Amino acid sequence: MKAATATAPGKIILFGEHAVVYGQPALAVPVWNVYAQATVQPGPPGRGVLIEAADLHLQLSLAEESAHGLALTVRLVLEQLKVPEPDVLITASSTIPIAGGMGSGAAISAALARALGMYLEKPFNESELSALVYEVEKFYHGTPSGIDNTVICYGQPVYFVRGQPPVTFRVHSPFHLLIADTGIASPTKQTVSAVRERRDSAPEIYDLIFANIGRIAREARQVIETGEIGQLGRLMTRNHALLCELGVSSPELERLIEAALNAGAEGAKLSGGGGGGNMIALAMPDRVQSIYSALEKAGATRVIHTVVR
Ligand code: MEV
Repeated sequence: MKAATATAPGKIILFGEHAVVYGQPALAVPVWNVYAQATVQPGPPGRGVLIEAADLHLQLSLAEESAHGLALTVRLVLEQLKVPEPDVLITASSTIPIAGGMGSGAAISAALARALGMYLEKPFNESELSALVYEVEKFYHGTPSGIDNTVICYGQPVYFVRGQPPVTFRVHSPFHLLIADTGIASPTKQTVSAVRERRDSAPEIYDLIFANIGRIAREARQVIETGEIGQLGRLMTRNHALLCELGVSSPELERLIEAALNAGAEGAKLSGGGGGGNMIALAMPDRVQSIYSALEKAGATRVIHTVVR
Protein backbone atom coordinates (compact mmCIF):
# COMPACT_ATOMS: atom_id res chain seq x y z
CA MET A 1 0.00 0.00 0.00
CA LYS A 2 1.07 3.59 -0.64
CA ALA A 3 2.23 5.82 2.22
CA ALA A 4 -0.29 8.46 3.30
CA THR A 5 0.31 11.78 5.07
CA ALA A 6 -2.26 14.05 6.70
CA THR A 7 -2.21 17.21 8.80
CA ALA A 8 -4.50 18.95 11.27
CA PRO A 9 -4.23 22.53 12.54
CA GLY A 10 -3.99 23.96 16.03
CA LYS A 11 -6.96 25.98 17.24
CA ILE A 12 -7.84 28.85 19.49
CA ILE A 13 -11.09 29.64 21.16
CA LEU A 14 -12.09 33.24 20.47
CA PHE A 15 -15.07 33.34 22.84
CA GLY A 16 -16.95 31.03 25.16
CA GLU A 17 -14.48 28.53 26.64
CA HIS A 18 -15.74 26.75 29.77
CA ALA A 19 -19.28 28.11 29.32
CA VAL A 20 -19.47 25.89 26.21
CA VAL A 21 -19.21 22.81 28.45
CA TYR A 22 -22.53 23.94 30.01
CA GLY A 23 -24.42 24.45 26.75
CA GLN A 24 -23.49 28.03 25.86
CA PRO A 25 -22.23 28.89 22.35
CA ALA A 26 -18.52 29.38 21.66
CA LEU A 27 -16.46 30.57 18.68
CA ALA A 28 -13.22 28.90 17.65
CA VAL A 29 -10.89 29.15 14.66
CA PRO A 30 -8.17 26.91 13.27
CA VAL A 31 -4.59 28.21 13.46
CA TRP A 32 -2.55 26.83 10.58
CA ASN A 33 0.69 28.47 11.79
CA VAL A 34 1.03 25.38 13.99
CA TYR A 35 -0.08 21.88 13.03
CA ALA A 36 0.19 18.15 13.66
CA GLN A 37 1.21 15.75 10.92
CA ALA A 38 1.11 11.96 10.61
CA THR A 39 2.48 9.60 7.98
CA VAL A 40 1.44 5.97 7.65
CA GLN A 41 3.68 3.62 5.70
CA PRO A 42 4.15 -0.15 5.40
CA GLY A 43 5.86 -1.48 8.57
CA PRO A 44 7.85 -4.59 9.49
CA PRO A 45 5.78 -7.75 8.72
CA GLY A 46 4.12 -9.35 11.74
CA ARG A 47 4.72 -6.36 14.08
CA GLY A 48 1.28 -4.76 13.73
CA VAL A 49 0.94 -1.01 14.27
CA LEU A 50 4.07 0.84 15.43
CA ILE A 51 3.81 4.54 16.36
CA GLU A 52 6.74 6.94 16.66
CA ALA A 53 6.37 10.55 17.77
CA ALA A 54 9.80 12.07 18.39
CA ASP A 55 8.39 15.40 19.75
CA LEU A 56 6.45 13.48 22.38
CA HIS A 57 9.40 11.12 23.06
CA LEU A 58 7.02 8.35 22.18
CA GLN A 59 7.55 4.99 20.58
CA LEU A 60 4.86 2.39 21.02
CA SER A 61 3.45 -0.76 19.56
CA LEU A 62 -0.31 -1.25 19.54
CA ALA A 63 0.06 -4.84 20.75
CA GLU A 64 1.84 -3.71 23.93
CA GLU A 65 0.25 -0.36 24.70
CA SER A 66 -3.35 0.37 25.49
CA ALA A 67 -3.27 3.39 27.79
CA HIS A 68 -2.22 6.08 25.36
CA GLY A 69 -4.42 8.46 23.37
CA LEU A 70 -2.66 7.62 20.10
CA ALA A 71 -3.09 3.86 20.65
CA LEU A 72 -6.76 4.54 21.38
CA THR A 73 -7.01 6.58 18.17
CA VAL A 74 -5.64 3.70 16.09
CA ARG A 75 -7.93 1.21 17.78
CA LEU A 76 -10.98 3.38 17.12
CA VAL A 77 -10.01 3.76 13.46
CA LEU A 78 -9.62 0.00 12.99
CA GLU A 79 -12.90 -0.67 14.79
CA GLN A 80 -14.76 1.95 12.78
CA LEU A 81 -13.39 0.75 9.44
CA LYS A 82 -13.77 -2.92 10.44
CA VAL A 83 -10.26 -3.87 9.35
CA PRO A 84 -7.74 -6.13 11.09
CA GLU A 85 -4.57 -4.60 12.53
CA PRO A 86 -2.23 -3.85 9.60
CA ASP A 87 1.59 -3.91 9.69
CA VAL A 88 2.32 -0.20 9.53
CA LEU A 89 4.75 2.36 10.86
CA ILE A 90 3.07 5.63 11.85
CA THR A 91 5.24 8.67 12.42
CA ALA A 92 3.60 11.65 14.04
CA SER A 93 4.90 15.13 14.77
CA SER A 94 3.48 18.41 15.98
CA THR A 95 4.47 22.05 16.34
CA ILE A 96 1.44 22.82 18.55
CA PRO A 97 2.38 23.69 22.16
CA ILE A 98 1.35 20.83 24.44
CA ALA A 99 -1.22 21.54 27.18
CA GLY A 100 -1.41 25.17 26.04
CA GLY A 101 -5.08 25.33 25.04
CA MET A 102 -4.34 25.04 21.31
CA GLY A 103 -5.75 21.56 20.83
CA SER A 104 -2.46 19.65 20.58
CA GLY A 105 -3.98 16.30 21.63
CA ALA A 106 -6.99 16.58 19.32
CA ALA A 107 -4.83 17.67 16.36
CA ILE A 108 -2.38 14.80 16.61
CA SER A 109 -5.24 12.30 16.88
CA ALA A 110 -7.00 13.93 13.93
CA ALA A 111 -3.87 13.85 11.73
CA LEU A 112 -3.21 10.23 12.67
CA ALA A 113 -6.79 9.01 12.11
CA ARG A 114 -7.03 10.93 8.83
CA ALA A 115 -3.72 9.49 7.53
CA LEU A 116 -4.62 5.94 8.59
CA GLY A 117 -8.04 6.16 6.92
CA MET A 118 -6.35 7.37 3.72
CA TYR A 119 -3.72 4.63 3.90
CA LEU A 120 -6.44 1.97 4.30
CA GLU A 121 -8.25 3.54 1.34
CA LYS A 122 -11.29 4.33 3.48
CA PRO A 123 -10.87 8.07 4.12
CA PHE A 124 -12.99 9.69 6.82
CA ASN A 125 -15.14 12.71 6.09
CA GLU A 126 -14.91 15.64 8.54
CA SER A 127 -17.93 14.66 10.58
CA GLU A 128 -16.76 11.04 11.00
CA LEU A 129 -13.26 12.20 11.90
CA SER A 130 -14.59 14.69 14.44
CA ALA A 131 -16.78 12.04 16.12
CA LEU A 132 -13.80 9.69 16.36
CA VAL A 133 -11.48 12.35 17.79
CA TYR A 134 -14.21 13.30 20.30
CA GLU A 135 -13.92 9.79 21.75
CA VAL A 136 -10.18 10.34 22.20
CA GLU A 137 -10.83 13.79 23.71
CA LYS A 138 -13.00 12.12 26.36
CA PHE A 139 -9.99 9.98 27.25
CA TYR A 140 -7.76 13.08 27.61
CA HIS A 141 -10.26 15.52 29.12
CA GLY A 142 -13.12 13.66 30.80
CA THR A 143 -16.05 15.91 29.85
CA PRO A 144 -15.09 17.88 26.75
CA SER A 145 -17.70 19.99 25.00
CA GLY A 146 -16.57 18.79 21.56
CA ILE A 147 -15.46 22.21 20.29
CA ASP A 148 -11.76 21.32 19.94
CA ASN A 149 -12.24 18.21 17.80
CA THR A 150 -14.85 20.06 15.71
CA VAL A 151 -12.75 23.09 14.76
CA ILE A 152 -9.63 20.98 14.22
CA CYS A 153 -11.32 18.33 12.06
CA TYR A 154 -13.38 20.79 9.99
CA GLY A 155 -10.45 23.24 9.73
CA GLN A 156 -12.85 26.20 9.57
CA PRO A 157 -14.17 28.89 11.93
CA VAL A 158 -16.88 27.28 14.03
CA TYR A 159 -19.83 28.57 16.06
CA PHE A 160 -20.37 25.65 18.36
CA VAL A 161 -23.15 24.63 20.71
CA ARG A 162 -22.69 21.34 22.50
CA GLY A 163 -24.81 18.54 21.03
CA GLN A 164 -25.73 20.50 17.90
CA PRO A 165 -24.21 20.17 14.44
CA PRO A 166 -21.39 22.70 14.06
CA VAL A 167 -22.10 25.90 12.15
CA THR A 168 -19.26 27.63 10.34
CA PHE A 169 -19.30 31.42 10.37
CA ARG A 170 -18.06 33.95 7.85
CA VAL A 171 -15.31 36.38 8.73
CA HIS A 172 -16.37 39.61 7.01
CA SER A 173 -13.09 41.51 7.55
CA PRO A 174 -9.90 39.60 8.36
CA PHE A 175 -8.39 40.53 11.73
CA HIS A 176 -4.97 40.13 13.35
CA LEU A 177 -4.43 38.13 16.51
CA LEU A 178 -1.33 37.57 18.58
CA ILE A 179 -1.30 34.32 20.50
CA ALA A 180 1.14 34.31 23.41
CA ASP A 181 2.15 31.33 25.49
CA THR A 182 2.75 31.66 29.24
CA GLY A 183 4.94 28.55 28.98
CA ILE A 184 2.95 27.05 31.86
CA ALA A 185 1.42 23.73 30.88
CA SER A 186 -2.16 23.50 32.05
CA PRO A 187 -4.07 20.37 31.06
CA THR A 188 -7.68 21.22 30.12
CA LYS A 189 -8.92 18.29 32.19
CA GLN A 190 -7.75 20.02 35.38
CA THR A 191 -9.25 23.44 34.71
CA VAL A 192 -12.53 21.94 33.48
CA SER A 193 -12.89 19.83 36.60
CA ALA A 194 -11.92 22.76 38.88
CA VAL A 195 -14.69 24.85 37.28
CA ARG A 196 -17.11 21.95 37.70
CA GLU A 197 -16.36 21.73 41.42
CA ARG A 198 -16.90 25.46 41.89
CA ARG A 199 -20.07 25.38 39.82
CA ASP A 200 -21.47 22.48 41.86
CA SER A 201 -20.95 24.48 45.04
CA ALA A 202 -22.85 27.56 43.72
CA PRO A 203 -24.80 26.66 40.55
CA GLU A 204 -26.89 29.87 40.36
CA ILE A 205 -23.83 32.12 40.43
CA TYR A 206 -21.85 30.10 37.90
CA ASP A 207 -24.77 29.54 35.54
CA LEU A 208 -25.23 33.30 35.42
CA ILE A 209 -21.57 33.79 34.49
CA PHE A 210 -21.90 31.10 31.78
CA ALA A 211 -25.03 32.80 30.40
CA ASN A 212 -23.20 36.15 30.26
CA ILE A 213 -20.31 34.52 28.40
CA GLY A 214 -22.84 32.96 25.99
CA ARG A 215 -24.35 36.40 25.29
CA ILE A 216 -20.89 37.76 24.48
CA ALA A 217 -20.18 34.83 22.12
CA ARG A 218 -23.45 35.46 20.22
CA GLU A 219 -22.70 39.16 19.94
CA ALA A 220 -19.14 38.44 18.82
CA ARG A 221 -20.38 36.21 16.01
CA GLN A 222 -22.54 39.06 14.70
CA VAL A 223 -19.67 41.52 14.95
CA ILE A 224 -17.31 39.17 13.06
CA GLU A 225 -19.93 38.50 10.39
CA THR A 226 -20.65 42.19 9.86
CA GLY A 227 -17.04 43.31 10.06
CA GLU A 228 -17.37 45.76 12.99
CA ILE A 229 -13.98 44.65 14.26
CA GLY A 230 -13.72 47.75 16.49
CA GLN A 231 -16.32 46.10 18.79
CA LEU A 232 -14.50 42.81 19.01
CA GLY A 233 -11.71 43.89 21.37
CA ARG A 234 -14.18 45.18 23.95
CA LEU A 235 -16.04 41.84 23.84
CA MET A 236 -12.79 39.90 24.30
CA THR A 237 -11.83 41.88 27.37
CA ARG A 238 -15.34 41.44 28.85
CA ASN A 239 -15.17 37.70 28.19
CA HIS A 240 -11.82 37.61 29.98
CA ALA A 241 -13.26 39.36 33.05
CA LEU A 242 -15.90 36.62 33.28
CA LEU A 243 -13.22 33.93 32.90
CA CYS A 244 -11.44 35.57 35.85
CA GLU A 245 -14.68 35.24 37.84
CA LEU A 246 -14.65 31.52 36.97
CA GLY A 247 -11.16 31.41 38.53
CA VAL A 248 -9.28 30.17 35.46
CA SER A 249 -6.83 33.01 34.91
CA SER A 250 -3.34 33.07 36.41
CA PRO A 251 -0.71 35.72 37.27
CA GLU A 252 1.25 34.82 34.12
CA LEU A 253 -1.84 35.21 31.90
CA GLU A 254 -2.70 38.51 33.59
CA ARG A 255 0.82 39.82 32.98
CA LEU A 256 0.59 39.06 29.24
CA ILE A 257 -2.92 40.50 28.95
CA GLU A 258 -1.90 43.71 30.68
CA ALA A 259 1.20 44.01 28.49
CA ALA A 260 -0.87 43.58 25.31
CA LEU A 261 -3.47 46.15 26.38
CA ASN A 262 -0.78 48.64 27.43
CA ALA A 263 0.86 48.20 24.02
CA GLY A 264 -2.38 49.13 22.26
CA ALA A 265 -4.27 45.86 21.77
CA GLU A 266 -7.99 46.36 21.09
CA GLY A 267 -8.78 43.60 23.55
CA ALA A 268 -7.24 40.51 25.12
CA LYS A 269 -8.27 37.35 26.90
CA LEU A 270 -7.04 33.93 27.88
CA SER A 271 -7.88 31.23 25.33
CA GLY A 272 -8.71 27.59 26.08
CA GLY A 273 -8.74 26.06 29.52
CA GLY A 274 -6.69 28.80 31.24
CA GLY A 275 -4.61 28.34 34.39
CA GLY A 276 -1.59 28.84 32.10
CA GLY A 277 -1.42 28.07 28.39
CA ASN A 278 -2.15 30.81 25.88
CA MET A 279 -3.77 34.23 25.70
CA ILE A 280 -4.90 36.09 22.60
CA ALA A 281 -4.78 39.80 21.78
CA LEU A 282 -6.60 41.61 18.97
CA ALA A 283 -4.26 43.98 17.14
CA MET A 284 -4.87 46.61 14.50
CA PRO A 285 -2.32 46.02 11.69
CA ASP A 286 -0.13 48.99 12.65
CA ARG A 287 0.15 47.75 16.27
CA VAL A 288 1.05 44.12 15.57
CA GLN A 289 4.80 44.62 15.93
CA SER A 290 4.69 46.66 19.13
CA ILE A 291 2.25 44.27 20.82
CA TYR A 292 4.35 41.30 19.69
CA SER A 293 7.46 42.86 21.32
CA ALA A 294 5.56 43.78 24.48
CA LEU A 295 4.36 40.18 24.87
CA GLU A 296 7.89 38.84 24.47
CA LYS A 297 9.19 41.37 26.99
CA ALA A 298 6.44 40.38 29.45
CA GLY A 299 7.72 36.79 29.44
CA ALA A 300 5.77 34.99 26.67
CA THR A 301 7.71 31.85 25.73
CA ARG A 302 6.29 31.95 22.20
CA VAL A 303 4.23 34.48 20.27
CA ILE A 304 2.30 33.59 17.11
CA HIS A 305 0.89 36.19 14.76
CA THR A 306 -2.11 34.92 12.82
CA VAL A 307 -4.76 36.52 10.62
CA VAL A 308 -8.28 35.18 11.08
CA ARG A 309 -10.07 35.11 7.74
C1 MEV B 1 -10.75 23.82 25.81
O1 MEV B 1 -10.10 24.14 24.60
C2 MEV B 1 -12.07 24.49 25.91
C3 MEV B 1 -12.87 24.24 27.19
O2 MEV B 1 -14.10 24.97 27.04
C4 MEV B 1 -13.14 22.78 27.39
C5 MEV B 1 -14.13 22.19 26.38
O3 MEV B 1 -14.83 22.92 25.70
O4 MEV B 1 -14.19 20.96 26.34
C6 MEV B 1 -12.16 24.80 28.41
